[in-house]
Amino acid sequence: MRILTGLQPSGKLHVGNYFGAIEPAVRLQDMGEAFYFIADYHAMTSAQDPAALRTNVRELAVDFLACGLDPARAVFFRQSAVPEVNELAWILSTVCPMSLLAKCHSYKDKTAQGIAPNHGLFAYPVLMAADILLYDSNKVPVGKDQKQHLEVTRDIAGKLNEIFGAGTVVLPEPIIREDTAVIIGLDGRKMSKSYGNTLPIFGEEQPLKKLIMKIPTDSTAVEAPKPTEDSIILTLYQLFASAGDYTAMVDDHQRGGIGYGDFKKRLAAAYWDYFAPMRARRTEILADPGYVDAVLAAGAELARAEASKVLDRVRRAVGLA
Ligand code: TRP
Repeated sequence: MRILTGLQPSGKLHVGNYFGAIEPAVRLQDMGEAFYFIADYHAMTSAQDPAALRTNVRELAVDFLACGLDPARAVFFRQSAVPEVNELAWILSTVCPMSLLAKCHSYKDKTAQGIAPNHGLFAYPVLMAADILLYDSNKVPVGKDQKQHLEVTRDIAGKLNEIFGAGTVVLPEPIIREDTAVIIGLDGRKMSKSYGNTLPIFGEEQPLKKLIMKIPTDSTAVEAPKPTEDSIILTLYQLFASAGDYTAMVDDHQRGGIGYGDFKKRLAAAYWDYFAPMRARRTEILADPGYVDAVLAAGAELARAEASKVLDRVRRAVGLA
């Protein structure tokens, strides 16, 4: 079974990315043959900043490896290291109705925000379909926000097989993460870079802990019991603390006598400890300057070999070969 997913390089990894995408991908690498890539072509549809693109790709590679991606088990590569994906995207675009792309939420949301859409943004789902179909992917783990893009992929795959013959491409199945799509941010809204409410997973200890100390709380007096429902502190604490420590904090809220500052300190400590092994691994990776490039180069070679097999099959089916 082939499992494939792509991650956009969009800046420092935060707790929402970690629990929403990174951690599930790391867990899934034992369930089949994992192909994970950094979607650098896709990132170009929303930002044109060469230096930032290079930095973000590099950081995502380092951080993903630090979080447990094992290059001995998963094929890890940059999307643009396999330019074959563009040829497949072109072929797919010739069977993809305009109307299918025009109704995509992510496209409509961006244009509604007043962003002048480029063609790449409109064609984003076609390139994503090419990413998936190029590797005969069976399972594609994605967040809820990508559900519609997976439906588009399946529609396009179905059309291709209908026109050019069954088996031209493999029909992929999505694995949608319903639960983890709602990691809350430091202000209680969904954690998202666009809200500026993220908690990065790597960085300096003091500034990161300070972010936690600034979580807004109500004005309940120290002695009084504190609400446990919709508590930002408790919701985040549950991600990092053991079940016992979490229950203890709930009890302490209900009993009263402990202030929010104390709860935040516990949260900050649990958060810092949780990422300690990843931080240590990251330091090791950074100390070995050639490591990341070597991993990505080896991944690209494996990915390309697979891609050219599939592309050959598709080229023959459509009459290009
Ligand atoms: N669009 C995805 C996101 O923003 C990233 C992505 C690109 C992807 N190509 C993919 C995910 C192929 C899964 C499969 O999250």
